[in-house]
Amino acid sequence: MKYAIVLAAGKGTRMKTSLNNVMHEITGKPMIGHLNDRLEKLEVQSTHVVVGYQKVHIMNYLGNRVQYAIQSEQLGTGHAVQMVSDLKDKKGKTILLYGDVPLILPETMENLFEQADNSDMVILTAELDDPGMYGRIVRGKLGEVQKIVEYRDASESEKHLQEINTGIYCFDNELLFKYLGDLTNDNSQGEYYITDLVEMFAKNHHSIKTIRVSDIDEVMGINDRLQLAKASAWLQEHVNCHWMSEGVTLIDPKNTYISTDAQIGQDTIIYPNVMIRGKSVIGEDTIIHSGSVITNSVVGNHCVIESSKIIDSEVRNDVSVGPNAHIRAGSLVEDKNRIGNFVELKNTHIGFDSRCAHLSYLGDSTVGSHVNIGCGVVTVNYDGVNKHRTVIEDGAFIGSNVNLIAPITVGKNAVVAAGATITDDVQEGDLVIERAPRIDKAGYGIKYKNKEKIEKGKV
Ligand code: UD1
Repeated sequence: MKYAIVLAAGKGTRMKTSLNNVMHEITGKPMIGHLNDRLEKLEVQSTHVVVGYQKVHIMNYLGNRVQYAIQSEQLGTGHAVQMVSDLKDKKGKTILLYGDVPLILPETMENLFEQADNSDMVILTAELDDPGMYGRIVRGKLGEVQKIVEYRDASESEKHLQEINTGIYCFDNELLFKYLGDLTNDNSQGEYYITDLVEMFAKNHHSIKTIRVSDIDEVMGINDRLQLAKASAWLQEHVNCHWMSEGVTLIDPKNTYISTDAQIGQDTIIYPNVMIRGKSVIGEDTIIHSGSVITNSVVGNHCVIESSKIIDSEVRNDVSVGPNAHIRAGSLVEDKNRIGNFVELKNTHIGFDSRCAHLSYLGDSTVGSHVNIGCGVVTVNYDGVNKHRTVIEDGAFIGSNVNLIAPITVGKNAVVAAGATITDDVQEGDLVIERAPRIDKAGYGIKYKNKEKIEKGKV
């Protein structure tokens, strides 16, 4: 059996935040989300997250995807693991991760589990030129691991050791819980260190292996905003390199923000300052221009998106969007459409080969195929109390500056002349004109403009 424990109870003071550190986002996802997604791919039997400081945010975010252990007082990493009493006496291997070390790759985790098959503890280590405040790996003459010493407790010679503890381990679960109770807080910080288990395992002749990580950035701890920015850049570079290797053109990869869960088709071109967030799927041969933000949406093949926002929606093939369009939640734009500048759609379905090219708002609407929506059309969906639907059937033509007061249906091939405010259904094939009668007053314009002068007798 494979188990996971993630420690996330501590208060990271250097981040200067009201959130728990692990809720800060990297490429649009909280650190703890990255870790948990990867653990889910490894198919561990259970993941226990130890929470304490600002636990509600973490629990709301992860919901019932994991199990929780509460550490009310943060007395150290060893104490945090003691809180996971559910795992006591379980046979198997347990990977222990720190929530603020979120970039570890799934293949590294896999490797830890594999190595743990024939050892009692595996520690992921790294060799650093400047080992900073990390815990140091202390080895004996034969290279065997003897202990981990925390920086604050290290002797001068130990501080010079360059092999560090990344804070990622895999244990034989029964041995982990057997020795946990023996930890003491007799150290400079008065904390129960999980790292003290290493010396206990060594002294009791349990086998300890180490795996040395090749790219130290994979195991960087994120304790402040600088490290957060560095981690984001590192992960973004990985994601962007992947998509470039899959045939996607990124004009300026350093300024392109693609989530780890997005998919992008071949020959798509992405201009600088584009954000593709969440579980978005972008098709092939599509162009996304600067300033576009696409969130949890599907965009098809051969589309052009110009500085527009698309959220929780689907735009199918051969569609152009923008500049400055806003496609809001629940919208579906079928093939061969044009959604032009300053058009807003909300919860609206637009059928095949229609047009809504300028300055319109379509909310809670169903628009058929081959429909033309003129400039400045508004589907008036809200009466101040309830929202209502507008239906515009195939082939209809809605002139410019028309208000359709929902609930309303405009029938097939009907024409609504420009400037109308329509409150009742329009029948199939009809033309409807609704305008105030025009009054022409001959020469009155000049008179009106000169009114003052006439009164003063100057004209
Ligand atoms: C820890 C290691 C150190 C290692 C480094 C790598 C220990 C004692 N030291 O130090 O050897 O080089 O990570 O980044 O483990 N946490 C709790 N409850 C607590 C204390 C901490 O849940 O009572 C959580 C924190 O929220 C954090 C993680 O454990 O996610 C690590 O704690 P932190 O205090 O940052 O440990 P480091 O000092 O970084």
